[in-house]
Amino acid sequence: MAKAVLLFYSPSTALRSILTIPFLNTLTFEDRQLFFGKNWTTMPIRLACIVGARPNFMKMAPIIRALENNEFDGEFEILLIHTGQHYDSNLSNIFFTELGMRRPDVSLEIGSGSHGMQTARILEGIESVLLKGAPSGGKYDYVVVVGDVNSTLAAALAAAKLGIRIAHVEAGLRSFDKSMPEEINRMVTDTVSDLLLVSEPAGVTNLVREGRASEDIKLVGNVMIDTLVHMLDQAKDIVVAEQFGVKPNHYGVITLHRPSNVDDVKILADLVAVLIDISSHIPLVFPVHPRTEQKLEQAGIRVKLEKAPNIHLMGPLGYLPFLSLTSNSRVIVTDSGGLQEESTFLGIPCLTLRSNTERPITVEIGTSTLIGSNADLLRSSLHDVLHGKYKLGRCPELWDGHAAERIATVLTN
Ligand code: UD1
Repeated sequence: MAKAVLLFYSPSTALRSILTIPFLNTLTFEDRQLFFGKNWTTMPIRLACIVGARPNFMKMAPIIRALENNEFDGEFEILLIHTGQHYDSNLSNIFFTELGMRRPDVSLEIGSGSHGMQTARILEGIESVLLKGAPSGGKYDYVVVVGDVNSTLAAALAAAKLGIRIAHVEAGLRSFDKSMPEEINRMVTDTVSDLLLVSEPAGVTNLVREGRASEDIKLVGNVMIDTLVHMLDQAKDIVVAEQFGVKPNHYGVITLHRPSNVDDVKILADLVAVLIDISSHIPLVFPVHPRTEQKLEQAGIRVKLEKAPNIHLMGPLGYLPFLSLTSNSRVIVTDSGGLQEESTFLGIPCLTLRSNTERPITVEIGTSTLIGSNADLLRSSLHDVLHGKYKLGRCPELWDGHAAERIATVLTN
């Protein structure tokens, strides 16, 4: 709003403004820069920011905070759209409360479905919102998408078809494994995106190799780590380990939800057997994702985990209790992308139940080891952790809590 007030700083600009406001509204940010020069941005930059699934919320929260920061007062007009890909309170609502993120302006409530159906419904829903134009009128300057979930892809496609520029946060990551739905989402989203905001150097290398212009690629750091840095003190204040029957620094945290690990009964049963096996060495806390819960029930193997005395099962946790749990743990065993990054930042060993990763820095300099489904490697790595022989790792550059501020600055240029 401050920029709008600036319009009236002299009679001549006031006249020009009155004559041009309706016209300006029809122009994109780029057109306005073209007409009036870089420093004559009398209108805010109009952004539609998209969230949909759990990992989106902790990535978008710091971006919204940075965009709404006084430093950028009035430079951005933001519409926050929640697709409703995740709809359970403990996969969605709880994060808005905990992360202090403002409520969505639009909730599409799309819900679950097959990948094609879910993506199509989100695309249709977002297109209809974008077609209405920004609240102040005119076309959006950017659709901002984060990560690699179906909501990311659908929003990017909707924007691309309408000729709206797309800023993709966490661009360039590649597992080179097209059997992962997220890999398809990353590749297609990056292809149609205009501004590629990257979290680690491998992302830059991948995008350059794919022929993207270097001026479209910005290495800005990791917004998920922004949220971790912002919340860590609060998480430390609420030590939850004892509530789950374990002692700080004497337990492991398990998460498991990738289709490749949980959708096939044999693979899931083998993983469960290994978890039960390693729980004889260290107690395990296992917040179970709804996808995994369904598969465990259907396959009749949940009961095996329930009977294991050293495995503590629970539903998905909110951000703060989960961060409290991970930051006080001895080891993390996971197939999550975000958790590989968080454990690297926290300096906690991460045994990654995947054979590849789109986040190679977490293996190269961080605390993650790719275990795949190799039970022997999992046992030997856990042995190394428990006997102080596991690698230490260090924090990647630009994972410093300020990535979102860099993104806001890039968007103003
Ligand atoms: C999605 C993302 C994945 C991300 C994960 C984090 C895609 C392709 N995958 O996977 O990258 O790491 O979120 O959680 O976008 N369900 C509920 N409640 C909900 C949401 C889902 O019970 O609020 C159940 C539904 O039965 C659904 C299943 O969980 O079919 C899977 O949900 P879905 O969004 O399709 O994929 P995720 O496995 O959560």
